Amino acid sequence: MTAVTDLSGAHAVYDVDRVRKDFPILGREIHGRPLVYLDSANSAQKPQVVIDAEADLYAHHYANVARAVHTLGSEATNAFEAARDTVAAFLNAPSRDEVVFTKNISEALNLLAYSFSNASTFPGAERFRLGPGDEIVVTEMEHHSNLVPWQLLAQRTGATFRWIPLDDEGRLVSAAIDEVINERTKVVSFVYQSNALGTINPVARLVARAREVGAISIVDAAQAAPHLPLDVQEIGADFVAFTGHKLYGPTGVGVLWGRYDLLAAMPPFLGGGEMIETVDMTGTTYAAPPHRFEAGTPAIAQVVALATAVEWVQGVGLDAIHAHEVALLEHALEVLPTVEGLHIVGPTTAVDRGATISFTLDGVHPHDVAQLLDERGIAVRAGHHCARPVCVRYGVAATTRASFAAYTTLGEIDALVAGLREVGEMFR
Ligand code: ALA
Repeated sequence: MTAVTDLSGAHAVYDVDRVRKDFPILGREIHGRPLVYLDSANSAQKPQVVIDAEADLYAHHYANVARAVHTLGSEATNAFEAARDTVAAFLNAPSRDEVVFTKNISEALNLLAYSFSNASTFPGAERFRLGPGDEIVVTEMEHHSNLVPWQLLAQRTGATFRWIPLDDEGRLVSAAIDEVINERTKVVSFVYQSNALGTINPVARLVARAREVGAISIVDAAQAAPHLPLDVQEIGADFVAFTGHKLYGPTGVGVLWGRYDLLAAMPPFLGGGEMIETVDMTGTTYAAPPHRFEAGTPAIAQVVALATAVEWVQGVGLDAIHAHEVALLEHALEVLPTVEGLHIVGPTTAVDRGATISFTLDGVHPHDVAQLLDERGIAVRAGHHCARPVCVRYGVAATTRASFAAYTTLGEIDALVAGLREVGEMFR
């Protein structure tokens, strides 16, 4: 049990032991030690209800969706489309037709970039056309999935690729925002919460600035969705994307939410079944959103189980999860610096910061840290976390990263600290 204060300021008790009982894997031992899973920013573990939902679809209701007229086809289609309703409500989306299921968030972001690059010949898609003189803006803390698609789009169109730089603390250089996002900017795509630094960005300010200059705004909410309520109407951006597997859901499914008028004007990304209105040998017309962007057989069981994951999160309460994670974060930021030679890469206070902490340990390569922790049953990630420019910015080859979730305990953070002390001593 931890005493927590939720987003509304209310005090409550969070029963982490009760939450942990939902996750069968947390009962495992690794190398003879109880598993301490501190790699949820990489991928979160799954509650039994999510595992059951996927199995139940296959065991009792499986057929392809939107194609079969038989009973199983209807059952699968109904479950799939009900999942869209669940996700739309989770996001407070004005319409269920604004929810596009993708493979993951990388595909959601690539969908946008490739759709925009198809705009030059697509009627009514002027809004998405880019060319020389136009600018695409990201930040220096993006995951590669929010860098590479835009670099490729810039190469294809002749647009200029720009970024908002980082300050020494791991935050955006505030003074640069209004200069980098300017009248030439056509697209602003940025991460809500950094996977490498934990930083929570000034989303409202970035979205407002994009709107002020008439640019399309895109929010990568992969790391935010499991920790913060995501209300797309409140966020105010044009597009928001997240992925299922970090939200206690299955792999193979992500979500792109977009304003309907924009989705309806966008060219397709992938061509194939279900994304068409009619096809003949001389041309094709396209289905309305969301199906225009869902070519081929989707991840049916995974989409259905994602809805169960969303319901699981709503059952525990995102406010309560967030408050629990803030308590974990504050504790970790207090105890980690007591480890000799440990340096946090990213904000060192809990202000505008999520519960993902990257660090270096003097004299020990991050991969060695991760391996030696694993021998103690502790799972962390080491490397550049698919955000290599962050490592370059802070002059490190890699970092070790501990990330917390709804099921993390204060005791696990203490186990991490004890493990890091042992690792540090081995190398001194
Ligand atoms: N983006 C995931 C991470 O940060 C894979 O670990």
